[in-house]
Amino acid sequence: ENIPLEMHKVRIVQKLNLPTVEERLEAMKGAGFNTFLLQNKDVFMDMLTDSGVNAMSDRQQAAMMQADDSYAGSETFTRLQQALENIFGTKYFLPTHQGRACENVISQTYVTAGSVVPMNYHFTTSKAHIVLNGGRVEEVYKDEALNITSNNPFKGDMDIAKLRAVIEEAGAENVPFVRMEAGTNLIGGQPHSLANMKEVRKVCDEYGVMLVLDASLLADNLHFIKTREEAYQNKSIREITREIADLADIIYFSARKLGNARGGGICTNNEEAYMKMREYITLYEGFLTYGGMSVREMEAIAVGLEETMDEEMINQGPQFIQFMTEELQKRGVPVITPAGGLGCHIDARSFLPHVAQQDYPAGALASAIYIASGARGMERGTMSEQRNEDGTEPLANMELVRMALPRRVFTMSQVKYAADRIAWLYDNRDLIGGLEFVEEPNVLRFFFGRLQAT
Ligand code: F0G
Repeated sequence: ENIPLEMHKVRIVQKLNLPTVEERLEAMKGAGFNTFLLQNKDVFMDMLTDSGVNAMSDRQQAAMMQADDSYAGSETFTRLQQALENIFGTKYFLPTHQGRACENVISQTYVTAGSVVPMNYHFTTSKAHIVLNGGRVEEVYKDEALNITSNNPFKGDMDIAKLRAVIEEAGAENVPFVRMEAGTNLIGGQPHSLANMKEVRKVCDEYGVMLVLDASLLADNLHFIKTREEAYQNKSIREITREIADLADIIYFSARKLGNARGGGICTNNEEAYMKMREYITLYEGFLTYGGMSVREMEAIAVGLEETMDEEMINQGPQFIQFMTEELQKRGVPVITPAGGLGCHIDARSFLPHVAQQDYPAGALASAIYIASGARGMERGTMSEQRNEDGTEPLANMELVRMALPRRVFTMSQVKYAADRIAWLYDNRDLIGGLEFVEEPNVLRFFFGRLQAT
């Protein structure tokens, strides 16, 4: 058996609460069948996301005690900038309060009415900011990216021919940048290969278009390049990181994921891009040496980034995800393969073939999993999409429930418990019906919309 081994020990713990099934049903109803609206005190395993909830190391916590609180010219900023320069080789760093703030700044700087932004796959907030500025997203994933079960190690790769065709059709002057998302979130945390990113870079050079890397989920992607891409098996994580960084004009990240604390930022060697974007930092985020982050978090990010260069740290997420995926597969539960990063992804469409896509099968399954187990995951399907301008609803390519595995947080027995309850639910899937909105926000509705059983 493939048993993941924890390369750390647990020295601080937090008490958990496991409400009864009756209490869970009441809590889920009270939360409008939206797992975002549950109170965490009612949750046994919080598998909603890894965002800002990965376990920090002793060194990160120690670093938080020596932060420099000054508004301007903080030494903490210099340490974080230096850590980023060390791993990415980028001179300029613009701090932000989190990943989507980077997306706001980049989109406001570069996206205008009629802009077309090709990407391997959209992410909810990245797309919303491009659309808000009048642009359009074109996804250029390979056909295989949407296959639930697959042996393709890099389902996050771009289809180079499609990328070329999109740029040709839009006209390179209307393509402000190409966006590559590491660890492609919405298709199951699927990585891209370094070879593919090199191809993408070539196309960008050919057309004179910038390449922007969303490095939020880079840690998992690094692990997958090292373990799945033959040419890189003997390269260190640090070398692989540098090779990736050298291909991008702009790198941005959510430090709620990359760096294992809470914050974000934009890195570049392009002085012109830096000068353009920095005005938005002071407008929306804060002064250039903190950008809306707490200096304590910035210290933790600097250490967390260094720790990300350690394969024995970044393999923890993927190994636990693979373990959970295999446990579910043994019991016949439909899951995304190969196992990716971020979390274990369950295919709601084949789990609930009797629930129409319009009735949000992934949202219904996420609610049912919470009721059956006390573990809360996240809907990643049609609910996470936005309505078209005419009010019609685009159906998502995939209906997934993501059971995130925050790094170094859960034990193997907890993961086995969650898998066991989900397998029980699969055997009793006829109990689950669809959902409809009773309160539907216009923007990013999945965060706080309320639903009821159809
Ligand atoms: N890009 C990717 C690939 C992300 O996964 C996220 C966040 C963001 C950008 C935005 O960063 O949350 O710091 O503003 N993903 C979280 C998740 C929310 O749960 O998947 P943020």
